[in-house]
Amino acid sequence: MTDRPSYYVTTPIYYVNDVPHIGHAYTTLASDVLARFKRLDGYDVMFLTGTDEHGQKVEKSAEKAGIDPQAFCDKVSARFRDLAEAMNFSNDQFIRTTEDRHKKAVQHLWNRLVDKGYIYEDKYAGWYSVRDEAFYAEDELAQGNNGKKLAPTGAPVEWVEEPSFFFKLSAFQDRLVEYYDANPDFVLPKSRLNEVRSFASGGLQDLSISRTTFSWGVPVPDVPGHIMYVWIDALANYLTALGYPDEENPDYSKFWPADLHMVGKDILRFHAVYWPAFLMAADMPLPKRIFAHGWWTNEGQKISKSLGNVIDPFELIDTFGLDAVRFFLLREVPFGNDGDFSRNSFVQRCNADLANGIGNLAQRTLSMIHKNCDGALPDFSELTSEDNELLNLPKVTLEKIRELMDRQAFNLAFDEIWRIVSAADGYISREEPWALKKTDIERMKTVLFVLADTIRQIGILMQPIMPDSADKLLNQLGVAERTFTQLGEAGRLKPGTSINKPQGVFPRLELVEEASA
Ligand code: MSP
Repeated sequence: MTDRPSYYVTTPIYYVNDVPHIGHAYTTLASDVLARFKRLDGYDVMFLTGTDEHGQKVEKSAEKAGIDPQAFCDKVSARFRDLAEAMNFSNDQFIRTTEDRHKKAVQHLWNRLVDKGYIYEDKYAGWYSVRDEAFYAEDELAQGNNGKKLAPTGAPVEWVEEPSFFFKLSAFQDRLVEYYDANPDFVLPKSRLNEVRSFASGGLQDLSISRTTFSWGVPVPDVPGHIMYVWIDALANYLTALGYPDEENPDYSKFWPADLHMVGKDILRFHAVYWPAFLMAADMPLPKRIFAHGWWTNEGQKISKSLGNVIDPFELIDTFGLDAVRFFLLREVPFGNDGDFSRNSFVQRCNADLANGIGNLAQRTLSMIHKNCDGALPDFSELTSEDNELLNLPKVTLEKIRELMDRQAFNLAFDEIWRIVSAADGYISREEPWALKKTDIERMKTVLFVLADTIRQIGILMQPIMPDSADKLLNQLGVAERTFTQLGEAGRLKPGTSINKPQGVFPRLELVEEASA
């Protein structure tokens, strides 16, 4: 066992009613960047993603596809695994709620809630939305055009009456509100905490947590005919992955409570109200943070299958390259806000920051070294205060980036990296190494060395967001050690290392319209 600090980050598990789209890629990407960042920063990381395979929505989709639900889940879940590979996600586990280990874990949690006296049997009569897999109170519903009632999300609802077990959610109202007040960073962004707080303080009804009118779910222990409500089943995945109910499991002792549940704003209530209440009822520690990110629209329109404007991450990767996709999604929009996806802004952003920014800086510097220093990193002579300032900037910047990453402010964290790029660009313009070539060759070598070592450090900092491109850059410089401990003097480049003719790492993108589906 190491005594390194631990970091446990989870994504929502994805419903297998649908193939993966950009929204799914986005949630997992944000988690991946954090997981990679923490690993480079010396943490033992557990990064979990997976698929949510039970419930009425999935059962209906399987029926529609004319396949047995398990076979249907196997097929769609595999697509999510493909996405993880295509997006270069570094998840340590991929969990599926149809696995036996999960059924055992969630049944154990259920029994614990029964033992603690928080589950009782009654009858549910009320509104349910299959699309949202959520129960709604009458006063939450709106009237649709066709006279039918709609959930606040716009999803259709149906009236349900069936025997059901209930969880005494109402018993946790005060404790939850006190908890939010005592832990203002429990839910971020802040506006989302306010939303959750006002929902909870407005009055919590007990929650129906079993269903009897269909069968695709985890059986309620010892009660034939009842299966668990898909959300209690799904939320427990965060425990299953750590070996729960075996609380002696080293992963459980190391990683629970989770440091971060990354979720979209649509599923905040489940994570920030129901989940903490279940855990309080079971006498278990609560996750430290729930971050609710915003939603993407496509060229101004809500993304939906029926509108036919779903953005396919596989297609984007094919068209623009993986790292450009990773960069754009997290750079373009302040994390937490909604964002509009447009191919035009994609191309502009990537060309400005990647091709013309870091790409140009690296290409210029490495070409000059290759050409003017016999294909090897030059030695440096005396360093000026300006040289030292640039060389030390990345290490100083890491402190700021850490803080920003700890509040999931990805775009601001990347801004900090790009400030180093600008500082290096400014340094080149002032030092004019091309002019020094004629007047002071020793100084030219020092300037090029300083630039190369700055690029090394930018490469190290860039790894979480663009792992492949960072690797290429660091390989060109012959850098072996790549963790954050190598920033500053510790990992300084070795003069004499040979530098091949550099290959551009960040190609200029052209605006290509999406191939019609
Ligand atoms: N199965 C539940 C989660 C259970 S977690 C214990 C679920 N699955 S989902 O597949 O419908 O959605 C998963 C995630 O994708 C959510 O975080 C959701 O916000 C995100 N997105 C779906 N469409 C999106 C956009 N258009 N934009 C950004 N993210 C969106 O909910």
